[in-house]
Amino acid sequence: MSVVAEDRATGGPGGPGSVLLGLRGISKHFGAVHALNHVDLDVPPGQITALVGDNGAGKSTLIKAIAGIWAPTSGTMTWDGKPVEIHTPKEADRLGIATVYQDLALCDNLDIVGNMFLGHELLRHRLLDENKMETSAKDTLAGLSVTTVKSVRQLVESLSGGQRQSVAVARAVMRDAKLVIMDEPTAALGVSQTAQVLGLIRRLADRGIAVLVISHNLNDVFSIADRLAVMHLGRMVHSGPISEYTPQSAVEIITTGKFGGDNSNSRANQGQKSRETTND
Ligand SMILES: Nc1ncnc2c1ncn2[C@@H]1O[C@H](COP(=O)(O)OP(=O)(O)OP(=O)(O)O)[C@@H](O)[C@H]1O
Ligand SMILES: [Mg+2]
Repeated sequence: MSVVAEDRATGGPGGPGSVLLGLRGISKHFGAVHALNHVDLDVPPGQITALVGDNGAGKSTLIKAIAGIWAPTSGTMTWDGKPVEIHTPKEADRLGIATVYQDLALCDNLDIVGNMFLGHELLRHRLLDENKMETSAKDTLAGLSVTTVKSVRQLVESLSGGQRQSVAVARAVMRDAKLVIMDEPTAALGVSQTAQVLGLIRRLADRGIAVLVISHNLNDVFSIADRLAVMHLGRMVHSGPISEYTPQSAVEIITTGKFGGDNSNSRANQGQKSRETTND
């Protein structure tokens, strides 16, 4: 499909069915290891896209390419319909891409406010504007219905895993992120904390934010995701609305890279087929 035809099909930037982040033919080689192989993916605003795949499939490598941690070996990206290159995390931040890694990169010895404004502190007459930062941190957490933290002056080291995730996500929201990427946000959480974080992810999407979330937990994926994207051995082998999949078919694609007779119409799959026929 031509870029113009595709734009019309997706409604163009900001339109219904629009694409916030578009990846085309993204490859990443580490020496002889082809961690990503011609990956195509469209990430729409206001929806949760679950990125799944077996260990080593390339999920973390893909989000690191989007987050500006390392440059792809080849391929192109679009942001709001325009070509873009993301060379550093700072450039990703400027576009409105926030990544919440599994280790979260929060500072234990700072309180919630300190963490939420780390590197972007508000100043008043050259001094830290603690009141404004505190109010803003409280408002952001309240806006996301995060009710379990007692005080925003609590040190982060005293928070539970779910609360830490919430702070990391709230920081992204406060930075006005348009795309929030999360690498296994519930992996270390118990049942109620998982429910809390999944609710938070849903609320992000309901605010119009695009969410790209890596998860190995298909229960979580099928309870919150709007779209599914499946990677297998560095390739994006399937992607589409979650309604096109069942947990069983998802497992099949994750483990074999194929779906029954593989008659899916998903674009990623068609791209895969065309590449296979051109022997690329
Ligand atoms: N810095 C690196 N140097 C060399 N090879 C790497 C590097 N990072 C990742 N790889 C390789 O790239 C492939 C994809 O790894 P990646 O971490 O993206 O997988 P993943 O899908 O996130 O897996 P998991 O579910 O286990 O987190 C693996 O074969 C891995 O060994
Ligand atoms: Mg990973």
